[in-house]
Amino acid sequence: MSKVTVVGSGNWGSVAAKLIASNTLKLKNFNDEVRMWVFEETLPGGEKLTEVINQTNENVKYLPGIKLGKNVIADPNLENAVKDADMLVFVSPHQFMEGICKLLIGKIKAGAEGISLIKGMEVKKEGPCMISTLISNQLEINCSVLMGANIANEIAMEKFSEATVGYSQHKEVAERWVQLFTTPYFIVTAVDDVEGVELCGTLKNIVAIAAGFVDGLEMGNNTKAAIMRLGLKEMMAFSKLLFPSVKDSTFFESCGVADLITTCMGGRNRKVAEAYATNGGKRSFEELEEELLKGQKLQGVLTAKEVYEVLSHHGWLEMFPLFSSVNLISQGRLPPSAIVEHSDNKSSMI
Ligand code: NAD
Ligand code: 13P
Repeated sequence: MSKVTVVGSGNWGSVAAKLIASNTLKLKNFNDEVRMWVFEETLPGGEKLTEVINQTNENVKYLPGIKLGKNVIADPNLENAVKDADMLVFVSPHQFMEGICKLLIGKIKAGAEGISLIKGMEVKKEGPCMISTLISNQLEINCSVLMGANIANEIAMEKFSEATVGYSQHKEVAERWVQLFTTPYFIVTAVDDVEGVELCGTLKNIVAIAAGFVDGLEMGNNTKAAIMRLGLKEMMAFSKLLFPSVKDSTFFESCGVADLITTCMGGRNRKVAEAYATNGGKRSFEELEEELLKGQKLQGVLTAKEVYEVLSHHGWLEMFPLFSSVNLISQGRLPPSAIVEHSDNKSSMI
């Protein structure tokens, strides 16, 4: 029987643990218990977050009001949380993954399988590195991905949505992940395009920042639709430049156009970028993130910076006016209104 551990316990991490825990109780080939590694913190009342999760069965900080399932066990010890796991679900903000992987080297059970729900990338001297590749290389495990139109709070309330598992070669492994995540309200489809799926999830966060600027500037629905269309074109062009094997069809799965739409309508990146534009760029993203998200993390600003580095390095900046502008605006080098001034006619070059 396979044991599952979730590495991460933020907003989406907690919902992932809930989804999985409802299935491990029903599926004979999985151990009932789902271990969830929690980056330990002390709550304002002085209690430890892990202790409160285990007492109340609720992540009171990152997913208040939702029961996770009694078979979810919060564990503050990373090494202990992963040591017996056959299936590892990685779901931390991407900026912490390199540190987490370093702590996990040599601690993973032989033959374990990984899946990344993380939307982001790292840029190294050698070039860009997707998070699933970082996990695979550092931990010497196979790593699939799961991305989709998945605003965590909606899935926590069991509202219908879809997701995409991206895999490379090992279809039978992808089918196990599909089995572990699928519920009547969460429909998962597997596609043989791990890079395409992960790049969709990663890049749509840049477009969501642009959509937030448009909302903050009260530019209306037509402008936002234009930003989404240009953003999708840049997502496709950038993905194919990095990985020519990426398939067009992947952009029409839940991980592609559907995630782009939901994030531009209702995501956290959009929300904080809206506040940034409303304040005329005078309050920093860090300050607004802290105030509005209360410990939850944005991925789009960092991703825009990381992608900008790749674009500059290759001399591709002019081909990606939307991605470039999002970075320059969020770094305070252009005003929010530049989102339309700098994203218009150059897009015909894509
Ligand atoms: P989150 O943003 O809600 O929470 C932040 C997490 O980071 C917390 O668990 C916190 O304890 C942890 N943390 C803080 N400092 C840390 C450190 N130094 N080291 C390690 N961990 C630390 O997290 P989330 O929403 O679960 O996001 C994780 C990933 O899932 C992201 O890549 C995000 O894009 C993706 N995602 C999120 C959603 C969503 O709706 N929330 C949906 C789909 C995908
Ligand atoms: P935000 O991080 O912008 O909330 O996006 C969540 C998400 O990825 C939905 O699929």
